[in-house]
Amino acid sequence: MQQSETVPLTQLLDERHGRVICYPRYDLRELRRRVKELKKLGVKAVEFAGGKTAFDVPVLGKGCVGIVIVALTDRGKVALKVRRVDADRAGMQREAELLRRANAVGVGPRLLGTTKNFILMEFVEGTLLPQWVEMLEGRGTRSRIRRVLREVLEQCWRLDESGLDHGELSRAPKHVIVDSSDNPCLVDFETASLHRRVSNVTSICQYLFIGSQAAKTIKKKIGEINREELIRALRTYKQQRTRENFEKTLGVCGLRNV
Ligand SMILES: Nc1ncnc2c1ncn2[C@@H]1O[C@H](COP(=O)(O)OP(=O)(O)O)[C@@H](O)[C@H]1O
Ligand SMILES: [Mg+2]
Repeated sequence: MQQSETVPLTQLLDERHGRVICYPRYDLRELRRRVKELKKLGVKAVEFAGGKTAFDVPVLGKGCVGIVIVALTDRGKVALKVRRVDADRAGMQREAELLRRANAVGVGPRLLGTTKNFILMEFVEGTLLPQWVEMLEGRGTRSRIRRVLREVLEQCWRLDESGLDHGELSRAPKHVIVDSSDNPCLVDFETASLHRRVSNVTSICQYLFIGSQAAKTIKKKIGEINREELIRALRTYKQQRTRENFEKTLGVCGLRNV
């Protein structure tokens, strides 16, 4: 893995780091504007570290809209989502607003600030859910996984209740991070919407228990659930999004009493 590196804002203008802040194209004028925004957000330095890379620089994550890196502010380490210069949208404000809505029901990393090109949020230090599940073994594994999955479903229920559809939970290998206290956190509200029919619970159940590599791993670790029964329960929940139908779904997944 690449060495991690802390770079103060004043030294961010070189091409090697500038290419990450203006991914994927280095542009000094744009970079200067962006560094100003970072100052406004209270960012003192940026830390290039993590399991992914942008060119050869280590970062926390890379998607089609953003590069996620660690930033240092007076509050300590935070996560910074950087708009790619080739992203298919003009600014980060919309995503920030949706994250704020998620925060209002206790979901997602806490929003700390936003500008045109950045979202500053709580840094969730942990492991992506599929790897976290894969990694666990020994005593207590089943109940730890069950508790985390239950909490993920509860968060999805709250999103459903609030009318916010995440939009990327049916294939979510990179959108649930589990921290060292076993708290799951849903990330990436980029494709979220307040105007779609919500399908957070149904999508995440699809992902966790029905059709994915993660579903296979989860089955291996916590045991088989009745697929047909789950599909029926989800269909009922979809027709009538009540707490009772949600709890029936939890029951079918073996998550009711964890
Ligand atoms: N607040 C955060 N704390 C830690 N890691 C994060 C955080 N937000 C995102 N990440 C990591 O960065 C990756 C990319 O972020 P994401 O918001 O999904 O970007 P994109 O919209 O470009 O897909 C995520 O899959 C996750 O691994
Ligand atoms: Mg993403």
